[in-house]
Amino acid sequence: MVTRPTTWIPAAKGDRLQDVDTPALILDLDRFETNLARMRAAAASFQVRLRPHAKSHKCVEIARRQIAAGAIGICCQKVGEAEVFVNAGIGDVLITNEVVGERKLQRLVQLARHHPNARLGVCVDNVQTARRLGALCMAQQARLDVYVDLDVGQNRTGVATPQEAVELARTVVACPRLTFMGLHAYAGNAQHRRGVPERRAAVEAATRKAAETRAALRAADLPCEVITGGGTGTFIYEAGSQIFSEIQPGSYVLMDVDYARNEQDQNAPRFEHALFILATVMSQRGDRATLDAGLKAFSTDAGLPAPTFTGWQVWSVSDEHTVLQRTGDGPSIKLGDKALLVPSHCDPTVNLHEWIVAVRKGAVEAVWPIDARGAFF
Ligand SMILES: Cc1ncc(COP(=O)(O)O)c(C=O)c1O
Repeated sequence: MVTRPTTWIPAAKGDRLQDVDTPALILDLDRFETNLARMRAAAASFQVRLRPHAKSHKCVEIARRQIAAGAIGICCQKVGEAEVFVNAGIGDVLITNEVVGERKLQRLVQLARHHPNARLGVCVDNVQTARRLGALCMAQQARLDVYVDLDVGQNRTGVATPQEAVELARTVVACPRLTFMGLHAYAGNAQHRRGVPERRAAVEAATRKAAETRAALRAADLPCEVITGGGTGTFIYEAGSQIFSEIQPGSYVLMDVDYARNEQDQNAPRFEHALFILATVMSQRGDRATLDAGLKAFSTDAGLPAPTFTGWQVWSVSDEHTVLQRTGDGPSIKLGDKALLVPSHCDPTVNLHEWIVAVRKGAVEAVWPIDARGAFF
């Protein structure tokens, strides 16, 4: 495999946070571990399997720690991500997505063939892909777990009806080297609905459809061992549904500004912001301070990042700059100071960085590669 030469590492173990080169992605280890422990306790209390989504962090070390904290494996969204994690020794990976195109299908089956002891799963929503996967696995003597993707409200991917699910599951079962596992029923439409009643209602609708589809599968003598779904915004509803057996939240471990805008359900654990962008004040005039991190250091699809201190607001963002404007009482800022921003959306922000600097109480404990950065194919 071709690797990208990297010449720049923002920090080394033992550095102080204020000496980390910028812009840098920072992980607050105490908060990260709190999030791991809270999710572990929540999954255990509902007796569901926890399979966190690694598309949020793309980092093998974080995946290892999630598994050490009770997860049975991880989810990925792309074959390229699955290659990174499986090759790094993560033994149970589910691609919560359709894989279409001969090159990608070949890579997926090759990965399964090279790792016969790993569990590798994939979603399908059409008969052609299921048949092609079955044929490739047969030719390569490989095995794959297959989940029928059910559209439970997002209108993105997935079969629309229980009848379609039955037909597709039959196709999967007919392929000796594919194991039909059950349903993937992710309610992406529900995660960021701000109010608790709206999120709960959307998952109730998703659960009804998943239950109806499972009943149709069982009536057709098709086993449906697993129903997997749920994200940070809703996993307690899936987990408490008695229908879902597995949850796949991703953002909880890092927590961004956008998720913090959701109304908190009193029955759900509270997750801490653990991910930050560290930036340096590179220009300062009066009530304006300009940071050396912009659109190439964080995403803005979900709005602007938020400073961790009061009295200053993000006023403008460009490719390599963020301008802060004083809006009230807050710390004075001078040239060369360091500032922490909470990203508005963790997944696309992480994907911009080579490294994540793991910090505890102001000191760098480790620097981990974002191993699956850019693996979007
Ligand atoms: C299929 C699937 N599962 C799980 C997740 C995790 O969601 P979140 O990061 O909102 O917890 C996502 C996120 O988009 C997803 O697409």
